[in-house]
Amino acid sequence: VHQWRGVIEEYRDLLELPEGVEAVTLREGGTPLVTSEWLSGLTDAEVWLKVEGCNPTASFKDRGMTAAISVAKADGAQAVVCASTGNTSASMAAYAAKAGLKPIVLVPEGKIAAGKMAQALLHGAQVLMVRGNFDHCLALARQLAWDYPVELVNSVNPVRLQGQKTASFEVVDLLGDAPDVHLMPVGNAGNISAYWMGYTEYLALGRSTRLPRMVGFQAAGAAPLVHGEPVPDPETRATAIRVGNPASWKLAEAARNESGGRFAAVTDEQILSAQRELARRDGVFVEPASAAGVAGLLADVASGTSYAGQTVVVTVTGHGLKDTATALEGAGALVDTVIDADVDAAAAAAGLR
Ligand code: F0G
Repeated sequence: VHQWRGVIEEYRDLLELPEGVEAVTLREGGTPLVTSEWLSGLTDAEVWLKVEGCNPTASFKDRGMTAAISVAKADGAQAVVCASTGNTSASMAAYAAKAGLKPIVLVPEGKIAAGKMAQALLHGAQVLMVRGNFDHCLALARQLAWDYPVELVNSVNPVRLQGQKTASFEVVDLLGDAPDVHLMPVGNAGNISAYWMGYTEYLALGRSTRLPRMVGFQAAGAAPLVHGEPVPDPETRATAIRVGNPASWKLAEAARNESGGRFAAVTDEQILSAQRELARRDGVFVEPASAAGVAGLLADVASGTSYAGQTVVVTVTGHGLKDTATALEGAGALVDTVIDADVDAAAAAAGLR
């Protein structure tokens, strides 16, 4: 019996990590690449979803976190800190628990989905709710790590990107080559930077023959990379990408420029609609932010951008169960048909007769 070993053991030779570092792993990575018949039909392209909600803490963050926590532990750290819109904190708390480190998380007060908060708390994190947004939290986390004996594990820690880049290795390993175009949501911009690093490294190793165009979608109210300047008061229902001044700004711009890609904005309405459609048509339930890539693809199709004949990968970054409140608001009246325990009533209400 062979079990997937987690991204460090599966790709150790390709990761810049200290020699022989022991992996703290929950067997992250190895996530499904699922065909979307719906999106393939709409675009006349071959569209694949990289379903990152299938990671141990239900978002892509686990790839980078196994690396960051493994190195922090090897370095003798006692405590780790991160700023987060929710998923990084959930992931850090889980890996810190596994490693026996103290997790401290800084999150914007009132802007974290309940599932993510539950994860951080149950894994034993000290959760500090900051009066401010993610960008304030990150500045605070950097300062704490500077002044006190606590290791910063946000993606400004380069080890995070080493783990995160394994997602593009998996895409190439599964498809046999890089896709023509790769679409994804962008918040703090670590993920798109890491994917680009992975794709370029695989090309250099001769494991692929081409590079994809990298296309990053931000929420319209939190789209600094689209506007080319920081957004002081970012706002979006897709709380995971409510970021006004991305830490990996330069790397993400380089990924766009070198790949011939672009950044574009999608509205909250487009994001929430894409989330619902993806769940209904493809059976893939993602959190709002995670639907930004799909929303972008739909917006492109509507405005006449052609993907015909291309291979397209869309990363869906986190699981829908992270934020059921927003999902249920969108479902509205669909959820509450109450009937007696009676077969005729059930058949009538279900539309069977
Ligand atoms: N999708 C989800 C579900 C996220 O949680 C994030 C980032 C992104 C996309 C954007 O990725 O930041 O690498 O551009 N969440 C961070 C967090 C900010 O704290 O969990 P990015």
